[in-house]
Amino acid sequence: MKYYVSASVLSADLLDMRSEIKKLETNGVDMLHFDVMDGIFVNNITYGLPVLEQVRKVTDMTLDVHLMITDPLRYVERFAKAGADIISFHSESASDVRETIKTIKNAGVKAAVAIKPNTPAETVYDLLPDLDMLLVMTVEPGFGGQSFIFDTVEKVRLIRKRINALGLNCDVQVDGGINYETAPIVKDAGANVLVSGSCLFKAEDMSEAVRKIKGDS
Ligand code: DX5
Ligand code: ZN
Repeated sequence: MKYYVSASVLSADLLDMRSEIKKLETNGVDMLHFDVMDGIFVNNITYGLPVLEQVRKVTDMTLDVHLMITDPLRYVERFAKAGADIISFHSESASDVRETIKTIKNAGVKAAVAIKPNTPAETVYDLLPDLDMLLVMTVEPGFGGQSFIFDTVEKVRLIRKRINALGLNCDVQVDGGINYETAPIVKDAGANVLVSGSCLFKAEDMSEAVRKIKGDS
């Protein structure tokens, strides 16, 4: 399996985003993970459309946008226009899930559904044929730097099993608490896109950190 690392810039130096992006580009990071929080769906507020537009102007990296907002359908077209390559939204949010997937795809962007740690795998089985990626949250969404919730591993395994049984080409992303200890565990369970924030940005040598997370060193 080919593994990808998506860097959560929530842990970057936000006042020096331009050089942080350069650092990602030159250290083997595959995607830039952009966490959007509205203070309602989760208990935190981050950044949104104008920041994404500016990021888009300075990089060709895959922009992996994770919407933790209450009515994503209302905003997905604007995030697509602002430069997203992949848009994830939560199945637990207020919008019609199928309509939101359709709207993202019609905007020419890859569609992903995200689920919180307590949301069962079965709730997304019927959606898998329509998705480019399924995001399993391995911490409660809202903050970087939290500890991995080990109970979510079984869910990753169930979802990967289902994807394979259906013969689908759907990525499984994990987000939250991914580090050198937890990366092998989620990969073994079937995740192939690993989000990392604090572990990557704290590393002294980012390219070595990427290699260690992917497991090829
Ligand atoms: C949490 C965010 C994550 C977070 C990951 O709600 O969705 O993307 O920034 O950060 P780490 O890797 O530090 O857990
Ligand atoms: Zn995220």
